[in-house]
Amino acid sequence: MKGELSMYQASESRYETIPYHRCGDSGLLLPAVSLGFWHNFGDTASYENMKKLCFTAFDHGITHFDLANNYGPEPGSAEKNLGLILRDELSAYRDELIISTKAGYDMWPGPYGNWGSRKYLIASLDQSLKRLGLDYVDIFYHHRMDPETPLEETMEALAQIVRSGKALYVGLSNYNGEKLSQAEAILKELHCPFIINQNRYSIFDRTIEQNGLKETAAKLHKGIIAFSPLAQGLLTDRYLHGIPEDSRIRTDGRFLKENALTEERLEQIRRLNKLAAERGQTLAEMALAWILRDGVVTSVLIGASRPEQILDNIKALENTHFTEEELRIIDHI
Ligand SMILES: NC(=O)c1ccc[n+]([C@@H]2O[C@H](COP(=O)([O-])OP(=O)(O)OC[C@H]3O[C@@H](n4cnc5c(N)ncnc54)[C@H](OP(=O)(O)O)[C@@H]3O)[C@@H](O)[C@H]2O)c1
Repeated sequence: MKGELSMYQASESRYETIPYHRCGDSGLLLPAVSLGFWHNFGDTASYENMKKLCFTAFDHGITHFDLANNYGPEPGSAEKNLGLILRDELSAYRDELIISTKAGYDMWPGPYGNWGSRKYLIASLDQSLKRLGLDYVDIFYHHRMDPETPLEETMEALAQIVRSGKALYVGLSNYNGEKLSQAEAILKELHCPFIINQNRYSIFDRTIEQNGLKETAAKLHKGIIAFSPLAQGLLTDRYLHGIPEDSRIRTDGRFLKENALTEERLEQIRRLNKLAAERGQTLAEMALAWILRDGVVTSVLIGASRPEQILDNIKALENTHFTEEELRIIDHI
């Protein structure tokens, strides 16, 4: 009885904040801002805070939660923790949520816990579903290109996963334009609902503009979801006055390290922050708006260590228009 009383109830106005963008030419609509579980959802993070992040996101229309088999630490713990939240708080909303997960990086010892074999992908998704406590995920991704496994095998595994009912759609992550084209041709022949690419993209990282991914995805009418759109927190006001003790650099330090904050980088951040202020935005808002500026990217996939960051980031959607002059200044910086 007590449990029932404390159970989360979603805000009635949850669909009034965020626009939904069609993912390529598929039937799936994704929120313009999605929430990633790479950091702050592992076993070293606070479970109460995880719940607050999920509730704040969902209360504001962020219907898409993105995971991977290896998110933690420990690997797998982000899925396990979301599984608990889904079971205890969000079960009534399962059909309002798009849950994605991935396999492609090192997950368990031996030759079958990494890369892109059929053996690995199918076993990994079965493990993910157990941790999440779900019968299916909405999107299952191959997490990175595998230079050795035949592309046909990896794509056939994705198609088999959809046929088995364990995923509704599939995606590719960290592919380039050329591999995307090849993979798409195979998936099309297999009638596999491949709809989305997940790649790093930010003012600081333009790789997908250079390796053909952005152009090819648009040409093939596939969606793009941009990860680390804030360059893990660098494209915010977080590091303008030193390194806060509760920042990713200090609390984690595995992927974002202190040496990323060179004097040159800090100067770029200061100048971008000034431009953002002139536009009436925070730097985080401007950095997200910049990604959505031309309508090619379906959703920006943010991380957050506290609920206020989610609220700030949603405000980016109020102004995604840039003048030619602003775009020129950003490129120049
Ligand atoms: N497919 C892949 O290979 C891949 C790789 C990486 C990530 N991803 C996905 O992308 C998601 C997002 O990646 P990310 O966490 O690197 O994204 P990000 O949005 O670039 O960085 C998130 C971090 O920025 C800071 N932040 C966020 N909003 C802020 C705000 N308004 N003001 C100040 N600081 C703010 C927080 O850092 P503090 O902790 O310092 O507060 C937060 O943890 C991941 O969770 C994952 O789902 C996928």
